[in-house]
Amino acid sequence: MTATDSFVRVCAVADLADDTPHRVEIDGLPVSVVRTEGEVFAIYDICSHANVSLSEGEVEDCQIECWLHGSTFDLRTGKPSGPPATRPVPVYPVKIVGDDVLVSVTQES
Ligand code: FES
Repeated sequence: MTATDSFVRVCAVADLADDTPHRVEIDGLPVSVVRTEGEVFAIYDICSHANVSLSEGEVEDCQIECWLHGSTFDLRTGKPSGPPATRPVPVYPVKIVGDDVLVSVTQES
């Protein structure tokens, strides 16, 4: 099968306030879109420790914090900084086209 462009528009750049997560759904998948430090990131919106929405947490130093127990996840890699979360959260590639934010949640193998 030929790979196709799997990026979908999730919002406008203007919809994003700096350091304020913006929750969207892509084919039913919850994703938190974050503009911080001049870049836009997309991370799976559920903490790897328990079923908590990361978009309700705070963003600082390119990390998003889970408000329940305080683990933070790197927006670039999804890796947790420390316990109680030990597993990474998926992150997704982002493209900015004009004023549109596009995210791909399709993993090509
Ligand atoms: S639910 Fe996120 S760190 Fe515990």
